[in-house]
Amino acid sequence: MSDSLYALVGVTKRYGPRTVLAVDELTIRRGEVLALVGPSGAGKSTLLRLLNFLETVTTGALAFDGRPIAGGDDAPLCALRRVTTVFQRPVLLRGTVAENVAFGLKLRGQRDGGAVGRILEEVGLAHLAGTAARTLSGGEAQRVALARALVLRPDVLLLDEPTANLDPVNVALMERSVARLNREQGTTVVFVTHNLFQARRMGQRVALLLDGRLVEMAEAERFFEHPQDSRTAAFVRGEMIY
Ligand SMILES: Nc1ncnc2c1ncn2[C@@H]1O[C@H](COP(=O)(O)OP(=O)(O)OP(=O)(O)O)[C@@H](O)[C@H]1O
Ligand SMILES: [Mg+2]
Repeated sequence: MSDSLYALVGVTKRYGPRTVLAVDELTIRRGEVLALVGPSGAGKSTLLRLLNFLETVTTGALAFDGRPIAGGDDAPLCALRRVTTVFQRPVLLRGTVAENVAFGLKLRGQRDGGAVGRILEEVGLAHLAGTAARTLSGGEAQRVALARALVLRPDVLLLDEPTANLDPVNVALMERSVARLNREQGTTVVFVTHNLFQARRMGQRVALLLDGRLVEMAEAERFFEHPQDSRTAAFVRGEMIY
């Protein structure tokens, strides 16, 4: 079994005349936690939408688990099922918090077996289990979206600014839950964050996207302490001018 789970070569993504992503080469290792950082509009969410096969590459090749994958409507179900995404603006369903968290399990024909209760407990939402999901605060809704993903114990978890609306206690809870899934299940995690402290805490490797290009990708310590690219150095110092 190869060490690489995703391999992107010469990938571009265009919307109309605009190329929003142009990645020469990117390999994501099986079981790693990769932090994706970069300014607003850099293409981070777009990259996640390629990694979850929602969108197709405009040019280039994307392989998942050694197999070339066509995204969009042609994405194979077996690949789709292995990847779970928590979107930047998660949409909750009608019904209770518990029903929302149980939804993905049901869709996959899996039994709950107490997993929903356990995950709600873990992310501090047990007291809201019976509450209508649509009435939740922004931070509560974000935690439900995360719980809904975690309960599936996916092979790959893609998180788009998963803690943007959370207070510090809940940030810590979420980071712990994600780290635990990675450790216990070997889940590959790719997460987008604007919080460089979080990138450093959680990311085993960190990648910087600028204007759709992958500027640098390195082990977290090296990325922050010994960046190879002057733009990375400026970005981690908070001195980048966009
Ligand atoms: N469906 C689309 N159609 C046209 N342009 C798009 C589409 N999706 C994204 N873009 C453009 O692509 C660029 C990258 O967007 P993306 O959402 O990937 O950025 P991001 O790095 O996630 O930014 P943020 O940190 O603000 O979430 C943006 O300029 C955006 O306007
Ligand atoms: Mg985004």
